[in-house]
This record gives sequence, C-alpha cells and structure tokens, in this order.
Amino acid sequence: MPLRTPILAGNWKMHLGPSDTEAFFEAFLARHPERADGTVIFFPPSLSLAAALRAAAGRSDVRFGVQNLYHEPAGAFTGEVSAPIARDAGAEFALVGHSERRHVFGETVPETARKTRAALEADLLPILCVGETLVERRDGRAHAVVTDQLAGVLDGLPQADIGALLIAYEPVWAIGTGETASPQDAADMHHHIRTDLVRRVGDEAAAKIPILYGGSVKPDNAAELLGADQVDGVLVGGASLKPHDFAAICAAAY
Ligand code: PGA
Repeated sequence: MPLRTPILAGNWKMHLGPSDTEAFFEAFLARHPERADGTVIFFPPSLSLAAALRAAAGRSDVRFGVQNLYHEPAGAFTGEVSAPIARDAGAEFALVGHSERRHVFGETVPETARKTRAALEADLLPILCVGETLVERRDGRAHAVVTDQLAGVLDGLPQADIGALLIAYEPVWAIGTGETASPQDAADMHHHIRTDLVRRVGDEAAAKIPILYGGSVKPDNAAELLGADQVDGVLVGGASLKPHDFAAICAAAY
C-alpha cells in the first residue's frame, strides 16, 4: 500500500493501444530503474491493460488502474466495465471523478460516490479527482467547490474507507491546457484538502492519504510541483504518453 512516498501516476486517457503500450514500456522501463521508495501507476485504456501488465511483469514498483468503471458489479450494461472485472484483469486502482468524466460525460457527484464505493468493495483503491473550473477560481469559489466535491463522496463513507483513498487535485483549467497551478496554489489547495481529511478521520489517518497534483505536469515543472508542501505525487496526462518525458517527471521526484 503506497503511503506518502512519491506517487507518479500516468493517465493515458484514450491513447496507446496494445502495440503502442508494449513499445512505451520498452522505452520507459529502460529509463526508469526500479525504486523501492516510490510507486508508478499507469491508467491505460482498459483494452491495453493486459499488454501493459505483460510488459511491466517483474517490476513491483509499476502498478495499474482503470480510468473509469460502472458502479454495478455485473449485469446487462453494454459497454461498461465493473470494478470486480477490472480487479480480476489486474487493476489495483481506479480513477473516479476525473474532470473529463464530470465535464465531458456529465458524471454527477452521486455517480462519482457510487463508483468510489464500488471500487472499494472490489478492493480497488480509488483516486478521487477534484478540482475547480477557471470561472469558479476567478469567483473565489475554488475552496468551496473542492469542499463540495469531497463531501459528495466522502460524507457517505466509513472512516476506514476514507483512509484507503488517494485524492488528486486537478484544477480543470490546468488539464491539457499547458497552464499549471503555481506550487503555492497547489500547496494551498492540498492544505485545504488535508484539513478536510483531518476533520473526517483525524490527524494520523489523514497524514497517510496521498494527495496528488494534476494538470499540465511536464518535465520542466514537475520538480517544483512535487516539492510543494502537501504534494505527495502527480497525476500526469499528456506527458505520460512519452516515455522520455514521463521518466524525467519520475526522476524529478527524487
Ligand atoms: P494533463 O492531464 O497532464 O494532460 O493536463 C492531466 C489529467 O487529466 O489527469
């Protein structure tokens, strides 16, 4: 179980099929030697998960998750993937509430909450993504929006389940835009999230919950973001598709 050692997560979104996945790992693993004190988590498209697991076999520092799931464990839900199926296929983590799920696919907060519970029930560790839009930030509502997103999912969860989560703060305006939060803004929001977690589960348990930053993390800004107070790792989209760039981001954590 990852504690707050650096967590370097790559969200491939709808990129890299099985053949490209194989080529990616050949290049990436050659550049990123195994480390005992850090975890790399990839979120490939579901159809590339088997190829990814094969390509990274033997590397205990490299782990995998799914980008999305449906909350029912099984049934007549054409096109969906459930948490137990993802677990059986080798996933250990699940992204929930990613801004593209919320804003492109209209996923609601109650749906995100159901997915989080379904992941936990299937023994998948959820990475709950939260973050405000540009308008919300300009209106001075960033903290309130993130508080509400956390409450919508965490209010219904037992403390032990909250302690099993990872959180990713991903300001919507920074995702895929080349804009990043400053290290100060990231630290400020991470502190806000940590305070919310302390109120829910107490100091000791809250201190163990990793809070990742995501949004246009690149090799040239990774070190300062990873160095910001309360930032325990990064969730990387675009730059995680390039083995050189992602290996450089991982190296920036040490
Ligand atoms: P980006 O995506 O790094 O391309 O901004 C981050 C994410 O969506 O997790």
